[in-house]
Amino acid sequence: MYLEQAQLARNYIPICLDRVLESCDLFFHSDPLKIVRASGQYMYDELGNQYLDCINNVCHVGHSHPYVVEAAYKQMKVLNTNNRYLHDNIVKLAKRLTETMPPKLSVVYFCNSGSEANDLAIRLSRHHTKGTEMVTLDHAYHGHIVSTMNISPYKIRKNTDGVHPYPEYVHVAPSPDIYRGKYRDCDHPGEDLGEKYANDVKDIIDKVHAKGKKMCLFIAESMQSCGGQVIFPEGYLKKVYRYVHDAGGVCIADEVQVGFGRVGSHFWSFQIQGVEPDIVTVGKPMGNGHPISAVITTKEISSSFAKCGMSYFNTYGGNPVSCAIGLAVMDVIEQEGLLQKALETGNYITEKLMELMKMFTIIGDIRGQGLFIGIDLVKDRKTREPATEEAEYVLHRMKQEYIILSTDGPYENILKMKPPMCFSLKDADNLIEKLTVALKEVEEKRKNGEFAVKAHGTDKCHNTVIDDEEEIAIQDVRPFSVETITANGPEEPADLEQEDTPTKKAKTSQDI
Ligand SMILES: Cc1ncc(COP(=O)(O)O)c(C=O)c1O
Repeated sequence: MYLEQAQLARNYIPICLDRVLESCDLFFHSDPLKIVRASGQYMYDELGNQYLDCINNVCHVGHSHPYVVEAAYKQMKVLNTNNRYLHDNIVKLAKRLTETMPPKLSVVYFCNSGSEANDLAIRLSRHHTKGTEMVTLDHAYHGHIVSTMNISPYKIRKNTDGVHPYPEYVHVAPSPDIYRGKYRDCDHPGEDLGEKYANDVKDIIDKVHAKGKKMCLFIAESMQSCGGQVIFPEGYLKKVYRYVHDAGGVCIADEVQVGFGRVGSHFWSFQIQGVEPDIVTVGKPMGNGHPISAVITTKEISSSFAKCGMSYFNTYGGNPVSCAIGLAVMDVIEQEGLLQKALETGNYITEKLMELMKMFTIIGDIRGQGLFIGIDLVKDRKTREPATEEAEYVLHRMKQEYIILSTDGPYENILKMKPPMCFSLKDADNLIEKLTVALKEVEEKRKNGEFAVKAHGTDKCHNTVIDDEEEIAIQDVRPFSVETITANGPEEPADLEQEDTPTKKAKTSQDI
């Protein structure tokens, strides 16, 4: 029976690709997966094969979590309406969300997707500031609808028919990527890269003013996911937020991918940078697979919007079923101690990856926080030239071993990990074991000349060619610190100055 089903699924592929998925980013395009059920961190294909899911940050508390499913079912049986009626669930969820935020963020708007949330955040910012100019980061992605595509270089960079240029009010600042961005740690040793990158935003604001225009907003994830799992240098967002606020703009933190405790040490990733956004947008993990999102903002910004004359109505946003699901997700995060788990499992994976880094020169950088990890594969540690082909090979080999990873970043050379938060130490061991085999194979293939040889001198990734042929070695391995989580959030380390963690310094393995 399984075989028959498999045959059926395979026969569907051409139809699927032509009629439904033609311009969709199907995973493993030449041999796509048909997933028929999932539970926790595991997904199952039509043959019953079990895959370890290392990338689904939407099914945050675990695929098909029974507590969440039950909450949806219970509410669906009783009532589903819209937010034109009072309902306890909408109030309870708004309260629950704002309890995790800085006190000034006290008003919640509910929507159905991350794109919708960011679109609404743009509208709120416009009505509050009356400004026009927007700053976004290079390689950022904030959603698939026109307004959010406008601020998504990740997509616009790939537009080939020229139909979707940046509007003139959108300004793109460099992504503060200290490994392969405009200012790299190796090119600017000892310099404050947070300040350098923040100054680029300031320059944009100065140019906006010179043209007689007014700032509206700055939007960024507080750790860039689509850009290649980029951890920002310390102090970056603090400085940027100050410049934007001084110019009368508002700061939006997009937590659609990186929120709800993924970073382990905090509930929201903006907290790592010690900033207080004016607007926070949340989505994906919020419904554990069910479409629900929200915009959380200040009373002042919300009041400016309320005065604009156009009331907010969203047919599904904030409906009782979605809110019941959102509440259930919050319950599970708390009841199962998922922040602590993300921190412990994330640290464990990172320590293991650091060991792999000593064995395989293809690993150029390991960066991350909690269960948000990137493995930057390079052809050469000195030039940091991206090993795109090799990353693709690893991805496919891992799939053959029933492990689902993805690649990302401007060169698709970064192996990305953002699994459901129930990912266990046993899963981590399985992942590392299979990754070791795949990387060994890559090394063999390299020796046999099966991958393109490193191309010194290309400036594909701001390469600085270092002539010194001395082998680059890893001098120190710095696993993430395991912070203690208390009822009031994570305890600060006693002496921050001596805390030599990737988060703190926004670097990982790259003190080379
Ligand atoms: C950072 C970020 N913001 C917004 C979105 C858009 O969310 P949605 O696909 O739910 O519209 C995404 C989706 O990948 C995202 O990664």
